[in-house]
Amino acid sequence: MIHTNNTQFHPSSFLLMGIPGLEDVHIWIGFPFFAVYLIALLGNFTILFVIHIEHSLHQPMFYFLAMLACTDLGLSTATIPKMLSIFWFNLREIGFGACITQMYTIHICTGLESVVLTVMAIDRYIAICNPLRYSMILTNKVIAILGIVIIVRTLVFVTPFIFLILRLPFCGIRIISHTYCEHMGLAKLACANIRVNVIYGLIAFSVGYIDLSVIGFSYIQILQAVFHLPCWDARLKALSTCGSHICVMSHQKQENSSKKCVCNEF
Ligand SMILES: *[C@@H]1O[C@H](CO)[C@@H](O)[C@H](O)[C@H]1NC(C)=O
Repeated sequence: MIHTNNTQFHPSSFLLMGIPGLEDVHIWIGFPFFAVYLIALLGNFTILFVIHIEHSLHQPMFYFLAMLACTDLGLSTATIPKMLSIFWFNLREIGFGACITQMYTIHICTGLESVVLTVMAIDRYIAICNPLRYSMILTNKVIAILGIVIIVRTLVFVTPFIFLILRLPFCGIRIISHTYCEHMGLAKLACANIRVNVIYGLIAFSVGYIDLSVIGFSYIQILQAVFHLPCWDARLKALSTCGSHICVMSHQKQENSSKKCVCNEF
């Protein structure tokens, strides 16, 4: 570590600038974010509550939906309250530790989201392409193991981001032209070579592409299986069991999807 008068290894805080170019309307931008945040809190807590109290929903598919609701809650709570304090109260400063924590939470939640969606796709693949063995394959034990795999994979890929940021020196530039801290945004402020950060960022990102291709593969298999079914009735019924997954995949309201799932008995 080199400490001279005007270089600081780690600054005590950063300044989040909000949305560059829109400073004048920050106050107004805050309102839709606030509304969306309230709806997200309400919607996601409702999902968790309904899955918790309704015994017929104690099945793998809904455990995965519950995990998604948790990651959505984590992601929005890690970003929106701070964003609102920037928009409404001009509180731009964020402590170094808080910034790292926010970065970590955001990457953990997006990582979890990706792996949960992949596991959901595999779950639907087994349910449709191997329906008779579904309950034999997805036992409670397997689901518990999947849950652990989901968490461990995310921790393994995301935790290095912390060390990759901590090893960087920051010499004075503290301004982040954004509303939250994330890995590349922070790395770019460093006054050192950030090639390792870029390469690792790409590696972690490509894991997301692997997830996407697994999801794509399972959907191709599902469609093939479905269109080999003899009649349209059966085809639609089979496809409807994927409704919730398709909904959350396209980042739509999860409440619709869980409604659809309730009538999914394949
Ligand atoms: C859950 O939260 C996310 C945002 O984090 C939001 O996009 C989604 O619509 C919410 N789900 C419900 C059912 O409100």
